[in-house]
Amino acid sequence: MKDLFEAALGAYHHAHAPYSNFQVGAAVRTDSGGIFAGANVENASYPEGNCAEASALAAMVAAGERRIVEALVVAAGERLCTPCGGCRQRLSEFGSPDTLVHLCDPGGLRRTVTLGELLPLSFALGDGLAASAAVTAIDVVQAAAPQFQPRVGLILGSGLGAIADALEDTVVLSYADLPGFPRPSVEGHAGRLVLGRLAGVPVACLQGRVHLYEGVPAAAVNVLVRTLKALGCELLVLTNVAGSLRPEIGAGALVLISDHINLLGQSPLTGPNDAAIGPRFPDLSEVYDRSLRDQLTRIAKGLRVPLHSGVYVAVLGPNFETPAEIRAFRTLGADLVGMSTVPEAISARHAGLKVVALSVVSNLAAGLDASPITHEETLAHAAGAAARLSALLKALCAELAHG
Ligand code: HPA
Repeated sequence: MKDLFEAALGAYHHAHAPYSNFQVGAAVRTDSGGIFAGANVENASYPEGNCAEASALAAMVAAGERRIVEALVVAAGERLCTPCGGCRQRLSEFGSPDTLVHLCDPGGLRRTVTLGELLPLSFALGDGLAASAAVTAIDVVQAAAPQFQPRVGLILGSGLGAIADALEDTVVLSYADLPGFPRPSVEGHAGRLVLGRLAGVPVACLQGRVHLYEGVPAAAVNVLVRTLKALGCELLVLTNVAGSLRPEIGAGALVLISDHINLLGQSPLTGPNDAAIGPRFPDLSEVYDRSLRDQLTRIAKGLRVPLHSGVYVAVLGPNFETPAEIRAFRTLGADLVGMSTVPEAISARHAGLKVVALSVVSNLAAGLDASPITHEETLAHAAGAAARLSALLKALCAELAHG
């Protein structure tokens, strides 16, 4: 919350309130992790002027974002400053009844409430705004590549961005130009959508993903996944870099994910369900498509690329695990540990996409090796394995092209 407070406080100091002398700053956090701040602006003809919350929302809309997950208001004085009636409705149209609103003075937090408490009887737009963010990203993609209809979506993990170089006839879009797309903040994640052909198959490749440890909610992945689905993808291929819990599967190895254990404490599907996309309670008894796994195993054998199979446990991070946690995960049945993939896989199954996922092992998990684990090591091993992974994916596409 500190970052939201600092943004709102900065705006508060710039407020233009010569008539009321009541300065207000506000900031909102969006589902992609963006922060937009605003201050109140008064004028002689309509002295109440523009509220700080409205200014913050205007900045958010102008940046192409549509969904808030948190809001904060700063004002001085004895009485708590809450958003006015108009701003409560405005905020609720971009948020949900659970959206937190932090009420602060310049010294810090005084009280946190929910939008639902502030505005129990709003005019509801349901989840329409989340859907419209995806529609806008689709519009941008279709305008950039009018004839292009991807069959396969590909999400590249940390350091695996080079796999996109294997695509031909590419059109590249930045996430910054795709409304609702979360912006990755981690080194090794470019934040680009690359459209192109792999072995003749049209592929939409997301070069860079966001992780929950960056502070974004799991639901941030829905826009990515649902955009791929709406563009025409039938299959989502997920890649990541992970720690291995099996000493015999060391750094550089490729592992096909057979199933997962979600220890993120979150699902991307919390919140209102859009039944047009998928069911409220989706079945996850086969997240990773068995026949595609068999196909990839056969392809790998043919290419003499060693390919293991294992269960992936997703943890929040960003810290790596303790040896005791790794022993516990082993007991739970995990073979790999990482900080991604599961939200996208759940979102994709919910939307009716087939899913396959592949890990590149960057290290033995904590306690299995004497040396400490570093992000640099993760990136180095990813780069080394990218060529083998690329060969596998190209061969899979070649079969899909003829299938
Ligand atoms: N733990 C969690 N995530 C990871 C690891 C790990 O050891 N290696 C690469 N990503």
